[in-house]
Amino acid sequence: MPELPNIVILTGAGVSAESGLATFRGPDGLWEGHRVADVCTPEALARDEALVQRFYDERRVKLATVEPNAAHRALARLDAEWPGGLLLVTQNVDDLHQRAGAKRLVHMHGELRSALCRACGGRSPFAGADMGAGPACPECGEAGVLRPDIVFFGEMPYAMAVIDRALMEADLFVSIGTSGNVYPAAGFVQTARYCGARTLEMNLEPSLGATYFHESRIGAAGDLVPGWVEEMLK
Ligand code: APR
Repeated sequence: MPELPNIVILTGAGVSAESGLATFRGPDGLWEGHRVADVCTPEALARDEALVQRFYDERRVKLATVEPNAAHRALARLDAEWPGGLLLVTQNVDDLHQRAGAKRLVHMHGELRSALCRACGGRSPFAGADMGAGPACPECGEAGVLRPDIVFFGEMPYAMAVIDRALMEADLFVSIGTSGNVYPAAGFVQTARYCGARTLEMNLEPSLGATYFHESRIGAAGDLVPGWVEEMLK
């Protein structure tokens, strides 16, 4: 690896678990009592918009009650202090990386605190708890057209061109708190490795793609990530 490696970090639900946000694929296979397919597909939105809107309204209310944890803070510190290339890619729709101070960050699966207008395509900040009530789009003024700015299954993730370029240029790829079930994110390790990166996984258990990583550290993100960041910055 070069002295100042380009780093790409991928985070998943496990990085926010210690803040009190439920992961997607817990032991019961449900996300906050729902099958992912019932609240996370365009078909679900078309079939029962009230349910989908209520679900994300509730997630937004919950988000206001939690705080970034030691892993978010350590990654924000690495982002601030790392003099080389770095891209933090999160699959999470929470805003805990930003609230910890991360700047070189992309939300590939959208954001809870953002609304997507089905009329004009605009994305606008949305911190309220009532998207289901049909507020007007701040961009085009039309009412009842805002939907959660969440990338549902079957939709194209955000920022893929930026992510692909960073993966190709990465010297070090680090995956934190993701089960490796959902593509394209689950394939990032293979792309990065194929393009020459060293690969490290930090997760509570080996992910589905565990064999693609040069190194696996098993444990809670809040325990592992601060130590790894210390190693990188020393
Ligand atoms: N520290 C580290 N890892 C943890 C922790 C923790 N404290 N707690 C749980 N984990 C691990 C779990 O063992 C699991 O492997 O985090 C992983 C979380 O996996 P998922 O729940 O599948 O979440 P994620 O991989 O982020 O899901 C990907 O699926 O439904 C979609 O769009 C949604 O972005 C999401 C995507």
